[in-house]
Amino acid sequence: MTKPSHLALFGGTPVLKNQLPEVHNAGREEAVAAVRVIKEGPLSGFLGTASSRFLGGKYVRLFEKEFSKKFKVRHAVSYNSATSALHAAIVALGIGPGDEVIVPPYTMSATVTAVLQNGATPIFADIEDKMFCIDPKSVESRITKNTKAIMAVNLFGQAADLGALLPLAKKHNIKVIEDNAQSPGALWRGKYTGTVGDIGVFSLNVHKAIQTGEGGLLVTNDDAYALRAQLCRNHGESVVDEMPEYDAGPIFGNNYRMTEVTAAMARVQISRLSFLTKKRVALAKRLERALRTIPGITPAYTHPENTHVYYRYPIKVDEKKLGLSRDALAAAMTAEGFPMPKGYVKPIYLLPLFQERKAFNNTHFPFEKNTYYDGNPDYSYGICPIVERMAEKEITLTDVCQYPYTARHVDLFVKALKKVIAHRHELA
Ligand SMILES: Cc1ncc(COP(=O)(O)O)c(C=O)c1O
Repeated sequence: MTKPSHLALFGGTPVLKNQLPEVHNAGREEAVAAVRVIKEGPLSGFLGTASSRFLGGKYVRLFEKEFSKKFKVRHAVSYNSATSALHAAIVALGIGPGDEVIVPPYTMSATVTAVLQNGATPIFADIEDKMFCIDPKSVESRITKNTKAIMAVNLFGQAADLGALLPLAKKHNIKVIEDNAQSPGALWRGKYTGTVGDIGVFSLNVHKAIQTGEGGLLVTNDDAYALRAQLCRNHGESVVDEMPEYDAGPIFGNNYRMTEVTAAMARVQISRLSFLTKKRVALAKRLERALRTIPGITPAYTHPENTHVYYRYPIKVDEKKLGLSRDALAAAMTAEGFPMPKGYVKPIYLLPLFQERKAFNNTHFPFEKNTYYDGNPDYSYGICPIVERMAEKEITLTDVCQYPYTARHVDLFVKALKKVIAHRHELA
């Protein structure tokens, strides 16, 4: 008779008996702020006209002012999502058909679709295998006469290799957009990430370090970019002819506006950022000390120029040393009560949008040569071998360092990990 398994995956008792509580940062103060707006009205202060309401209502403006002060940046422009803000960044930089933007394949899809949204063509560069961010060497190999910008995604809570990317961009006269959705509060050479490149983007969606359900921001020190970003947010097409200070020609806008309720809650969330960051960093350090002792597991790496805020905690798995596949580990850990994904995302170029080259119905615009574009991007399997290896075999993640989890949760996570490894023969 076979012995019953200890592993929860096969019917054993899980290390964590109760499900992890939901990560949820908003509380009484956000409720008070939201109710105040509802009582006072209006719920949105925007008008798509060249009037004092073009820039939004009282709370939107207060939030933007406080955000730019906190992050030491000249302009903060709020949006209804980071996805909108990323598109506005592309518009602000004047990037469109015929242009290429170099992007990492290991990111949330919106980093890349923002480029397509304005008719420009994304070109994928590989990632490096320590921080999992875009690799400056690979970026350099992808630069052509059509390249207009690099999307530097500050992944999982720390800056991409900005020390190498910025001089590269300068040398080739191209812009740097920091997608900082995952890293508010992190520092690069002592400066807040997101404020280092030409434009930076932040997210306030429900999974992020600070959150209002949905929401986003664009930050920049450049007045002209800020104005175009504001026009893109609020029906710029019907406003520009009455704006003597804007002389860059027609623009077509959107409704990417933030509500007053969201802005009021966002103001409270900014005040929580340091507290939440400290909590995550303390748990991440505790986890790191334990992970270091486990052969086959590599804890998160922090670049010497960075501080890491651990939006998500990446763990690298050496399947041979561990004697266990990444996917089996993830499945067993999830059953023990600690959800672990099989990797982060599929490399973005492998999504059907790129494989079929269909972004705008059945046309292949902007993936093929056209009136404006003379390039021929490659989206085939194999173009970025490191990201493929990371995604298929080596990376997994845990959210156990996020607030409101505690040292006890981290210790139980480590206990579960050791248990799974001790019983790896059952998973063979
Ligand atoms: C790196 C990155 N960029 C962009 C986004 C999009 O953010 P939002 O949901 O606010 O549009 C996300 C969200 O997960 C993200 O992680």
